Amino acid sequence: MTQEPAYFPFVRDMLMQRSGLVVTPEKVYLLETRLLPVAHRHGFNCVDSMISELKSCHNESLAVDVTEAMNTHESLFFRDDIPFKLFKDILLPELLERRRAKKTIRIWCAACSSGQEPYSLAMILNEEAHRLRGWKTEIVATDISNAVLTRAAQGTFTQFEVQRGLPVKKLIQHFTQEEESWQIKKNIRDMIQFRQFNLLDARYLFGKFDIIFCRNVLIYFDLATKSKVMTKISRCLEKDGVLFLGSSESTIGITQDFWPVKAGRGVYKHTDGCPSLAEKIE
Ligand SMILES: C[S@@+](CC[C@H](N)C(=O)[O-])C[C@H]1O[C@@H](n2cnc3c(N)ncnc32)[C@H](O)[C@@H]1O
Repeated sequence: MTQEPAYFPFVRDMLMQRSGLVVTPEKVYLLETRLLPVAHRHGFNCVDSMISELKSCHNESLAVDVTEAMNTHESLFFRDDIPFKLFKDILLPELLERRRAKKTIRIWCAACSSGQEPYSLAMILNEEAHRLRGWKTEIVATDISNAVLTRAAQGTFTQFEVQRGLPVKKLIQHFTQEEESWQIKKNIRDMIQFRQFNLLDARYLFGKFDIIFCRNVLIYFDLATKSKVMTKISRCLEKDGVLFLGSSESTIGITQDFWPVKAGRGVYKHTDGCPSLAEKIE
């Protein structure tokens, strides 16, 4: 195991407080690798001197950069496949039935990174547009990181990124090629509202959603943080709504507000007995 640098306790506490990220001693090796480029960018010759600066005076932009560098932003189009199939084949038809009076569908991607997840959902909604005439569909996509949100809102992806999970047919239909990169078309881009939001915030201000994707972010939190986040998410989800977590995440031992839906790993409904949108998945 790499030896803990003297600055480790300060950085560990700062990351926990700002984003909920738990850095265990086994992950110490990541500190140097990820923070050295930040130190150089800010004019320091080593991580130690950058952290000394953070300790001695409040430097918000440096603290934000350190936090962002330690977060993992890995994402891909149609990640894990099943959530998107369930959304298209079961949840969307069910919503069209249940919300026919309101004619509104609201989806939240809470920790959307560079946008592959909300764009995957937007492509599905676009392809189902014939069934959604006269409906209002909203996708709110949030992340703690302004840097990834800026990228997400631009909707420009590398060849490598579009090769991961995105069927060629969808690439041709929804993107235009610009030299080395691929640009998502404006009609898809305009279906999503990108907003900066920290899941640790006390108040969740975006109203109620029919579907929430909160995938591959809880894994970085400790139990107490996961539990607080899940309680707040529970209040934002309609009583018959569905929550998607990452395939390696679970609510077991964290909250009793949600119940796993059998067929799809990572699919959850409220535990209060209300007939859920997910009934047909079970
Ligand atoms: C691994 S990515 C997951 C992206 C996407 N949901 C997926 O599954 O492909 C995790 C994202 O969570 C964001 N994140 C980390 N801590 C957060 C917090 N406290 N509030 C909101 N977003 C956070 C990171 O910035 C990062 O973009």
